[in-house]
Amino acid sequence: MSRITSADLFGIYDSRGRLTVEASIALASGARSRAGAPSGASTGVHEVMAFPKGGVPEALATFRARVGPRLIGLDASDQRAVDAAIHEVDGTSDFSSIGGNTATAVSIAAAMATAEETGRPLWKVLARPGVDGRSFPAIAGNCLNGGRHAIGGPDIQEFIAFADCARPEDSIRAAVRVHGLVGEELHRRLPKTALGRGDEGGWVAGVSNLEALEILTDACAKARDELHLEVRPGIDLAASEFFEKGKYRYREQTLDTEGQVGFVSKLVDRFDLRFVEDPFDQEAFDAFAALTKAVGGRTLVIGDDIFVTNEHRLRMGLERRSTNSILIKVNQVGTLTDTFATVDLARSQGLSTVTSHRSGEVPEGWLAHVALGTGARGLKCGILGGERVAKLNELLRLGRATGT
Ligand code: PGA
Ligand code: ZN
Repeated sequence: MSRITSADLFGIYDSRGRLTVEASIALASGARSRAGAPSGASTGVHEVMAFPKGGVPEALATFRARVGPRLIGLDASDQRAVDAAIHEVDGTSDFSSIGGNTATAVSIAAAMATAEETGRPLWKVLARPGVDGRSFPAIAGNCLNGGRHAIGGPDIQEFIAFADCARPEDSIRAAVRVHGLVGEELHRRLPKTALGRGDEGGWVAGVSNLEALEILTDACAKARDELHLEVRPGIDLAASEFFEKGKYRYREQTLDTEGQVGFVSKLVDRFDLRFVEDPFDQEAFDAFAALTKAVGGRTLVIGDDIFVTNEHRLRMGLERRSTNSILIKVNQVGTLTDTFATVDLARSQGLSTVTSHRSGEVPEGWLAHVALGTGARGLKCGILGGERVAKLNELLRLGRATGT
């Protein structure tokens, strides 16, 4: 154990070219670390604020005046103490004073400094009770983008290859192959059209929701035949983004809540979806429960915006049996300690956790360690782009290190 002797915060750019923050920490032992925080676009209303009102410049000024000095002298390996200090300086319930991204960057950097100092891999520093690092997450790889991440694409935000193999290298290979096959089919169907790349590295094309699902499902089947690896289709609807005045408003149809439950259940059956994230608005606990009851035995029904990695929101969902899975994004809630409270609750209640990137990412690999250390059922990540590949490659390294 050693004390923090310096702590800094700097502005860096995320994968969308927007400013975010990175924290750097030095310990008395000489160990050093640096961690950046990502940013979302389809953010949930119950997430903490990524930055104070004045954005990154205010986050930096606030850090220098209040957060940094408070961290000096703390034991970096005492994650609870570090995170409690961050909360104490902030003094709000949503990190609107110092910014949730400051909290995330500092919290992760403290854990990384401890890993550096003790010579342990980061995932072990983060490991939750009962996690031995032998069970690797499936890869939920974003193959085709829509919604807020891809203007001109389908309404559904993400079309995902859910590659569920024992070895991380196999899951990654299968997901990457599906991404490639989706691209080939899009080129075949739209020969004269330039295809784009969305914020999370998936293809962008002017196809409908159903066309996109057909293409994805066929690509998964082809990849399974070719590679003999388990990979199935999945979606993140990010439905809060097109829920207006009580209705789900797609380009082709408008559905009430009951209609949406029926529509998504049919998609699960027709396309054999194994991963269904945010099929309803972020307040629709009962609609989630109806879907989970109908299809939860054969697919992961995952809450992202509805829970925002928040223990209290998860409790509300557990009471109503809303989902069988929860998405985990550290900066939705701020610190690692807050994240662990939610993960531990989910695990104790038999819910699967899926660790996730954000649409605006930093080119760092710590997310793979969070996934492995928290015993995640899946790692949701893009396939293309250095900031996505950094996470996949880190998981590959972890697989090599443990011989998995
Ligand atoms: P965000 O979205 O990172 O833009 O918030 C990702 C998601 O909805 O899973
Ligand atoms: Zn989502």
